[in-house]
Amino acid sequence: MQARIPAGLDRKETEVYRQLDPDRLPRHIAIIMDGNGRWAKRRHLPRVAGHRAGVTAVRSTIETAARIHIPALTLYAFSEENWKKRPRSEVGFLMGLLGRYLKAEVPALNKNNIRLEYIGRQHELPEDVQERMAWARESTARNTGMALTLALNYSARSELVDAFRSMVEKATSNGGIEHLEINEDEVARHLYTRALPDPDLVVRTSGEMRLSNFLLWQLAYAEIYVTPTLWPDFRGVHLLEGIAEYQKRERRYGGLNHGEAHTNSEHAKNHK
Ligand code: FPP
Repeated sequence: MQARIPAGLDRKETEVYRQLDPDRLPRHIAIIMDGNGRWAKRRHLPRVAGHRAGVTAVRSTIETAARIHIPALTLYAFSEENWKKRPRSEVGFLMGLLGRYLKAEVPALNKNNIRLEYIGRQHELPEDVQERMAWARESTARNTGMALTLALNYSARSELVDAFRSMVEKATSNGGIEHLEINEDEVARHLYTRALPDPDLVVRTSGEMRLSNFLLWQLAYAEIYVTPTLWPDFRGVHLLEGIAEYQKRERRYGGLNHGEAHTNSEHAKNHK
């Protein structure tokens, strides 16, 4: 038993990990990191102090996910709405924090064999941030372990709009609009997440029960785990608790309870 505990887990993480079935871990976990502002307010600190503290949570969550061999982790760092609706000073702080985070974290990502990717309209971000992002992606591109995706200036509706535009462009460059092919697989092939499996589990911190325009297509069959923990207090052990909860759920994909039906539909299998 002991031999199956992955290296690097602390005592609390080990305790929760023991309850997990290592053969039924989610293949892709998506996280809506929320509550930085509230964390700071409770401490009478400026909001940006919550974002700064959120970096520790990011680091802990990524490391634990990689240690237990989760194949893909996607973190909702800034939404398109955050970018447009928050004060410029806060957005500027978040951009600076991201740049510093990327610079500081690349060695740890490499050490943990993590490959970094992004989703979102990157071309709208400041050029220096885009350059740093490209550098971090390139520096980790040869890693073969967990795929870490940061959603930056991301909106699921914009992603779908971009996918439809790209499908139309593909058809027109293939000889005309009559070559437009529309089906679920084709839409999925034009999403930013085309190289990733759909998330099995989506985690949201700070108790809010919303998807907030995050991966709307991809989360169609995901289990949703909401924890009251504010993001800056979130750690690897909380991720493991979310996975334990996920493993208690029965996934039906629109089918019947296990035992009531011979098998799930072909569609459901594709969306496991
Ligand atoms: C939501 O909290 C959080 C954000 C908008 C930013 C997320 C950023 C981080 C966790 C840190 C930086 C990330 C990386 C990848 C370096 P909120 O401000 O909406 O909190 P509130 O709802 O309590 O106000």
